[in-house]
Amino acid sequence: MSFVGVSELLRDAENGGYAVGAFNCNNMEIVQAIIAAAEAEKAPVILQASQGAIKYAGIDYIVAMARLAAESTRVPVALHLDHGTSFAQVVQCIRAGFSSVMIDGSKLPLEENIELTKRVLEMARAVGVSVEAELGKIGGTEDDIVVSEREAFFTDPEEAGVFVRETGVDFLAVAIGTAHGQYKGIPELDLPRLEKIKSVVKIPIVLHGSSGVPDDAIREAIRRGVRKVNIDTNIREAFTEAARKVLDANANEIDPRKVLGPAREAATAIIREKIRIFGSNNKA
Ligand code: G3H
Ligand code: 13P
Ligand code: ZN
Repeated sequence: MSFVGVSELLRDAENGGYAVGAFNCNNMEIVQAIIAAAEAEKAPVILQASQGAIKYAGIDYIVAMARLAAESTRVPVALHLDHGTSFAQVVQCIRAGFSSVMIDGSKLPLEENIELTKRVLEMARAVGVSVEAELGKIGGTEDDIVVSEREAFFTDPEEAGVFVRETGVDFLAVAIGTAHGQYKGIPELDLPRLEKIKSVVKIPIVLHGSSGVPDDAIREAIRRGVRKVNIDTNIREAFTEAARKVLDANANEIDPRKVLGPAREAATAIIREKIRIFGSNNKA
């Protein structure tokens, strides 16, 4: 199959009350792990490329790997730009073959975020590509701020209503207590806020920084309208720990396949687990 759009996947998820996993990919082994997990669980899946992935692998390599993966499987696969930084980058990715994009204007004042998102939407609509935007600031666990300070950056439900009405964006990333990277403690989600946002905006909600969020909190968030769950850090952890284990056991190992093969298997296992938590297994 060629790439599917993310809107279609999230529409089915909305009807079925589950979420689709959006997994960050940086190299061939991780692409293969995501597809192997999706096939084993019979799940629709979103491959996504971050700014770091684009810098590391390049847009063309990412598209080529993802396209081959999508064409060689029967499960629906979308390719999504994660945290797109500019109109120009979004255009480059669409031209290269991405089926969905995120434009992250969350650092901009509301009006500018709306303007940028609208501009991207007008162009993306013309070529049948879905668009994710971000309102509120999700940030990273390394940003040295305490939880009470982070709350100042949480998504305001009323603002979300204005944003979605004015832009017509397809799905929205919200800040409700998650952060990118490894958490120091256990993150607590502001579920009442999520419920309020969802009652105002009606479109699918995206949860970023989902690695390390307790499984039950993820399930509660899905119950309240999260339909796309982004996972990167947990894949990195599984991948790197497995590679490290091989090298710790045999410091003389020089065959990359003996290091990266087990890493790929470990990544597959964690992705399968996530898919089952999101409830997207057997939905392909
Ligand atoms: O956006 C979230 C990613 O986990 C950050 O990824 O380090 O590949 O840019 P990056
Ligand atoms: P984690 O790395 O915390 O899983 O976040 C991934 C993400 O939100 C990508 O956009
Ligand atoms: Zn993110």
